[in-house]
Amino acid sequence: MKPYPPEPFRIKMVEPIRLIPPAARKKALEAAGYNLFAVKAEDIFIDLLTDSGTGAMSRDQWAAIQHGDESYAGSPSWFVFLDAVQDLFSFKHVIPTHQGRAAEKILFTAIGGPGKVVPNNTHFDTTRANVEARGATALDILTAEGGQPQLIAPFKGDMDLEALERVLGEYPGRVPLVMLTVTNNSGGGQPVSLANIRAVAEIAHGRGIPVVLDAARFAENAFFIKLREPDYADREPIEIAREMFAAVDGAAMSAKKDGLSNMGGFLALNDDVLAQRCRENLILTEGFPTYGGLAGYDLEALAVGLKEALDPDYLRYRLRSVAYLGEKIAAAGVPIVQPPGGHAIYIDARALLPHIPGEQYPAWALSAVLYLEGGIRSVEIGSVMFGVQPDGSEKPAPLDLVRLAFPRRVYTQSHVDYVAEVILFVNERRARIRGVRIVEAPPVLRHFSAVLEPVAGSLMV
Ligand code: F0G
Repeated sequence: MKPYPPEPFRIKMVEPIRLIPPAARKKALEAAGYNLFAVKAEDIFIDLLTDSGTGAMSRDQWAAIQHGDESYAGSPSWFVFLDAVQDLFSFKHVIPTHQGRAAEKILFTAIGGPGKVVPNNTHFDTTRANVEARGATALDILTAEGGQPQLIAPFKGDMDLEALERVLGEYPGRVPLVMLTVTNNSGGGQPVSLANIRAVAEIAHGRGIPVVLDAARFAENAFFIKLREPDYADREPIEIAREMFAAVDGAAMSAKKDGLSNMGGFLALNDDVLAQRCRENLILTEGFPTYGGLAGYDLEALAVGLKEALDPDYLRYRLRSVAYLGEKIAAAGVPIVQPPGGHAIYIDARALLPHIPGEQYPAWALSAVLYLEGGIRSVEIGSVMFGVQPDGSEKPAPLDLVRLAFPRRVYTQSHVDYVAEVILFVNERRARIRGVRIVEAPPVLRHFSAVLEPVAGSLMV
């Protein structure tokens, strides 16, 4: 395979980005309290903070937007959207929401509550927060393989089936559903195999419990199945996606990822009673059931985006470009979560910067240095994000990672090469990087607004 297949699209409209001078980056970082969430997007050169809502829409999506019909009820755009979703997601009920977490809130309001237990391979943070906000317990039961960053294995997003049996036996009548996150974002963007999806469904269905996919990156997961699971090499991604959904009972979707849209989400379910309860919640907080929290033109853009996300040429390029960056920096000794995920590369900052103690947040420091040296914005997934315990005490997160998440169809090969060069430059100077400390932070979700400072007066000595 070529190291990097050329982008299967060309550019029709350009958006300027600029690399502000080093002194201006230093000033911007200081003014932001060393917190990249507080840096103005205009002062970022390559923005890899997230792949959510940041993708580029296609010619056909912009054309579809012109068909958007803004009728409050029963808009033609709703039916276009419904057809597109049900073509892939073979569920009886589709409930549109403004984004993924709204679908999660509506679902867990309907079926969560004190005493309930929700198993998942790994809950994404908003999913966990929505389970816990209703008083239920969120359990992560990933396979042991999935928890080893350096290990190379094809499906490190798989759920631990023995643990699932154990949990279902331990909490009879208390598990309202089993969730599987495809791909497993919080576990390094690793895929889940069809064999595992089916096995999870068999175990759960044996006890009358439904399975719901957190489907934000379903298309990337489908392509990993094509590449890695026996018997699927000759199957189209769309057929694989249909098989993934046919095995389960519903999906919660953030369409800001593999919906290739800037906004949107939905819940898709087979259960009539549950769907009815969710629609009642929807009307309270999102909107009427034929638009949820979305404009008619969003529904149109999504209908096209869901199909485009399954184009094999696009998926081949997408997965390969992320893997290319991972391979290039790993070859120079930069430790990353292996193998590269579908949407992002995760640098293991604790392994890269062993001289920085955990209390000085090595991943946060590395993320800040990548901005300082190259104008790149990444995100810390480590002890600043996850270090605060429910009782307010502090405990190191299992890993200190820096996530570089790629917006879809936005950056070119030369941008990816630039990112690799910056990381390699920083890697050569890694012994000079120093840690950071928190100056002030709110008690919850502190990473969004915390103010930090370098322990040594500057990030590099
Ligand atoms: N599920 C997964 C697996 C996600 O990655 C996200 C969002 C959500 C649910 C929530 O969806 O943002 O539309 O409300 N992930 C983004 C990220 C924010 O950067 O990884 P949302």
